[in-house]
Amino acid sequence: MAELVDFARFNGDMNAFPVINLFGYEQLAKEHLSQMAFDYYTSGAWDEVTLRDNLAAFTRVKLRPKMLVDVSKIDLTTKVLGASLQLPILIAPMAFQCLAHSDGELATALAAASAGVGIVLSTLATKSLEEVARVTNGWQWFQLYIHKDQGLTRALVERAYKAGYKAICLTVDAPVLGKRERDQHNEFTLPPGLHPANLTNISGLDIPQTKGESGLLSYFAQQINPAVTWKDLEWLQSLSPLPLVVKGILRADDAIRAVEYGAQAIIVSNHGGRQLDGAIASLDALPEIIAAVEGKAEVLLDGGIRRGTDIVKALAFGAKAVLIGRPVLWGLAVGGQTGVSHIISLLEDELKVAMTLSGCPTLQDIDSSLISQLPKNF
Ligand code: FNR
Repeated sequence: MAELVDFARFNGDMNAFPVINLFGYEQLAKEHLSQMAFDYYTSGAWDEVTLRDNLAAFTRVKLRPKMLVDVSKIDLTTKVLGASLQLPILIAPMAFQCLAHSDGELATALAAASAGVGIVLSTLATKSLEEVARVTNGWQWFQLYIHKDQGLTRALVERAYKAGYKAICLTVDAPVLGKRERDQHNEFTLPPGLHPANLTNISGLDIPQTKGESGLLSYFAQQINPAVTWKDLEWLQSLSPLPLVVKGILRADDAIRAVEYGAQAIIVSNHGGRQLDGAIASLDALPEIIAAVEGKAEVLLDGGIRRGTDIVKALAFGAKAVLIGRPVLWGLAVGGQTGVSHIISLLEDELKVAMTLSGCPTLQDIDSSLISQLPKNF
């Protein structure tokens, strides 16, 4: 797979990187990205309050480690929707990864496959879902945005099923695009030659250039269906036998409804602070959702995961696994597939140390007793 690494930018030697954690990658990535791409990747909506709070929420939670447990062997393996993972990690769906590296989603998928973590491919990927499926290890979900064009939406689901995707992950927090002012300022669009590969070839859809506005925001306003409601989940599930995952839930009542409408997994998420600014941090939303779902669906979380201890905290509240967003893009920008692999291995190492020091040799040992102040009724 080495041919997918851009050796002009990266010589494959991890020691050449002065980077020892995910934050370091963000600094380094800036040098590899255009201002427009860096802003698109990093930004949140409006004042970016939720973006910052996603990270801050993890610092507010404190751990109560257990002592004198045999931690000579640490087991990081788990199952999500019945499929095995080497780590409790999935790569979050993120649009336009070829802005970071010419191999884009292919490099991300290869890194995920070799580490045994899951991947969720965005509707707005810059490599087609079929191309990506060819390089994965069979552990891939397809993230869906429901377009106004029902035929297009149906075709996306059918293609994902045919290509071997294992679940449809419906994003429900983006009936319109959040206002990301850095993108508005930059009049964000894709550079010549880059397209949303799942859409352009089929329907000729593309990201427009819009005066005084983000082209992606215009795309959503024109193409994405803001009238979708819970009852449309029945229609969606009639399109394929794939299990449904609902991404973007922040309240207990919505989580219960998602389960009632057939979701087998829920992703607690505020879209990395990119949609409703001022929305609750995903970690803060997690306990009420875990309590409400009562084990009837698997619950995952994304938003602000930057350390192994963040993963321990999410799992201690009851998440089955976490999704990693932006840091994957930093790794991709810096070193293609190898950069993404390094991001995953940094998190793996940190998670191992965090579990060792918490007295948790397996993921099942990570329970709510590790959390110092549990919310009421948990
Ligand atoms: C996203 N996210 C996202 N979500 C989704 O459902 N479909 C998508 O196409 C995208 N695209 C996207 C692009 C970029 C550049 C980012 C940063 C994020 C949201 C993503 O799946 C996830 O919810 C957050 O990124 C998680 O937060 P962290 O890990 O970035 O803090």
